[in-house]
Amino acid sequence: MHIDPLEKQWVQIALGICAFFIGIIMLDALFHNINAPSNVETIDSARLHLSEEFAEQNLGVQVDGEGQVVVRMIAGRYSFLPKEISVPAETKMTFRWVSSDVLHGVHIPMTNMSTMVVPGYVAQVETSFPKPGEYPALCNEYCGLGHDHMWSKINVLEKDEWQQLQLSMNGADNDE
Ligand code: CUA
Repeated sequence: MHIDPLEKQWVQIALGICAFFIGIIMLDALFHNINAPSNVETIDSARLHLSEEFAEQNLGVQVDGEGQVVVRMIAGRYSFLPKEISVPAETKMTFRWVSSDVLHGVHIPMTNMSTMVVPGYVAQVETSFPKPGEYPALCNEYCGLGHDHMWSKINVLEKDEWQQLQLSMNGADNDE
């Protein structure tokens, strides 16, 4: 098959442009710590309240045995539970999201948090908040008429301030 040299040149230019844009996307993903969800973990969405991990008293912010901050949230029409949480700034933490009904999504502006919350699965994302302030956690998958009003407030506090708050909340049973 004969290909005209001029046509060949244009094919190369077109491929070059594609490679350029793919490069930009990959670099952007690298610098903003964006990656495909790799955590495949299933859960019974209809029995979350009976599950160990996502029972009501375990929701929200907790510090595990290794000092790692873990946040557990439930997405359901039309809110995230808890409605408001406080977390420390500049700290690596793990968010674990589950849905109690349909497909939802979570987006937290200014962070790498953007994931679908698929019923039956646990969506786990590691993130950190660069500076103190109020951040919204917004639903970004259309889930019904109340979709626009589905969000939670995240108070990001200075590390010291947050630690004080943790201590005062845990009271005497915290012997660290
Ligand atoms: Cu939940 Cu949209």
